[in-house]
Amino acid sequence: GDNVLYLAHRYEIELEGACEASLACSTCHVYVDEDYCDTLPEPLEEEEDMLDLAVFLKNNSRLGCQII
Ligand code: FES
Repeated sequence: GDNVLYLAHRYEIELEGACEASLACSTCHVYVDEDYCDTLPEPLEEEEDMLDLAVFLKNNSRLGCQII
């Protein structure tokens, strides 16, 4: 599908995605514009667990591959 990770790659924006969207890394960590945070569905518990391992975690942190 067209998640933010794949969109980034399509538009040649550098974003890693070491586990290919299988929720086994946090290299696709992104910050969501505050205006859009509330419009996204809540992250799955698996995403939260991986986000906990991300560096520079912020309130608007998400995993890019989980934003569709
Ligand atoms: Fe690994 Fe998104 S690419 S969790």
